[in-house]
Amino acid sequence: MNQPYIITVSSEKGGVGKTTLATNLAIYLKALNEELPVTLFSFDNHFSVDQMFRIGRSASHGEVADLFKNRPPSELLELGEYGVQFIPSSKDLGLLREQITRVDILGQILSRSGLEGIVIVDTRPDMDVFTRNALFASDRVIVPVKDAPSLENCRNLYAFFDRYGLSRRAIRVLPCLVDSRVHYNGTFKDSYQLLKGYAINRGYRCFEGFIAKSPKVESLNTNPEGKVYPVLTYGRGTDVHLQFAHLARQVYLGTLQDEERRLTQICEAFEQEESREKEAYRSRRHGLHPLCLVCGSPLVQDDVIGHAGYYGESSDGKIAGFMDEDCFSTLILKHFYDYREGTGTGGTLKSFFRELAQNSYFVLHRTPGTSGFFRQELSLYRFDSNGLEITHKSIVLNDADKGDLLTSLLGKTLKKGDGRLGEAFFLVRKVSTDIPEEILVANEYSRFQAVREKIRPQLP
Ligand SMILES: Nc1ncnc2c1ncn2[C@@H]1O[C@H](COP(=O)(O)OP(=O)(O)OP(=O)(O)O)[C@@H](O)[C@H]1O
Ligand SMILES: [Mg+2]
Repeated sequence: MNQPYIITVSSEKGGVGKTTLATNLAIYLKALNEELPVTLFSFDNHFSVDQMFRIGRSASHGEVADLFKNRPPSELLELGEYGVQFIPSSKDLGLLREQITRVDILGQILSRSGLEGIVIVDTRPDMDVFTRNALFASDRVIVPVKDAPSLENCRNLYAFFDRYGLSRRAIRVLPCLVDSRVHYNGTFKDSYQLLKGYAINRGYRCFEGFIAKSPKVESLNTNPEGKVYPVLTYGRGTDVHLQFAHLARQVYLGTLQDEERRLTQICEAFEQEESREKEAYRSRRHGLHPLCLVCGSPLVQDDVIGHAGYYGESSDGKIAGFMDEDCFSTLILKHFYDYREGTGTGGTLKSFFRELAQNSYFVLHRTPGTSGFFRQELSLYRFDSNGLEITHKSIVLNDADKGDLLTSLLGKTLKKGDGRLGEAFFLVRKVSTDIPEEILVANEYSRFQAVREKIRPQLP
């Protein structure tokens, strides 16, 4: 599939003309090639996109925020004025901003969207997660700068590209809001020359030309109807009209170059990640101990994991496997909570333990400094789902435990070649009884690993 060409207009400096540029560029590109599908949306909450493109008072079917809520982009598109399609802006992206942790989400969504031609993304004047998602997906980043401080801000943008190994060639600086009436004495004759000189000095690539400051253009934003008018139709007599036309040609020529699209690269990276994850899952699955780590009855057979209630792994990678729900809870209650089978409170205690286990991680760990196997101190820790310690309790293993299920579990998980318990710990997590293997799937397993790494330095 031919992926669309993604253009992001970005600058951490506010009021440099990003939105004016993004909206007008869409129209000038459309004017260059009527057949070219042009799509536009903004992560800003100013609604300039809607004010320029919405036809009449049509009701919208969705908004930018819905892109991240599994709604197909095609459902959100609205055909706007001048043949440009747009996704209506969102009033509040605050909550969503906290929830998105990856920078490749937008790229993945757009790569599966079926969109063609050019997609232009207008951003807020900061490097929030939406801006970073847009940058990550971009074939071209246009950075309007109007003065030296806004040029300084480019540094973060380049740093972002470097951090993710993206090609800096995608970024192009464009002097905007240039006041042509101001002239300097010296090497640089005007602010355009000055900005261009600064940019080149820092190794930043620039577009040819600039966008001048024009009172006419400014006035297109302010009118009683609350519409925003494009330069192409309402500012034809201005220099800015010629400048936008010149810019659009440069951008358009860039889209014709035979370079692999960012979305194609993102797709490929995603597929590779997926197959790596599948392979990692297979190998975790393959490495599972086939028996209940406590009682030794078969739990994992061929492709089926039966009645498992807990998953456990020794921190040194010695063993990983499941445990029967009742086996593990009985074992812990018996040794650490004086629970006796058949007593009246047993059932209550067990259901209490099951409840407690839902959001807990358990750790079995030898207290350092004790030696031998028996007469060693063994601690049981309970951590919350963020890896913060809630409680711990210790017991001394004694000869009476010989041949006991706890001894057998420790033998499989923590005992070293010399017969003693090692420094490793055994981490246990409750699993869903219906799909216990879910714990081995990418996200769930990463969480397990992350908690393990948080716990590690907390143990003595
Ligand atoms: N070429 C121009 N000449 C004169 N005024 C302009 C020009 N381009 C934009 N403006 C005006 O400058 C102001 C800021 O422009 P715009 O909203 O496009 O900037 P922005 O970078 O998107 O701002 P923000 O960072 O707040 O999103 C607006 O009032 C706009 O009308
Ligand atoms: Mg803006």
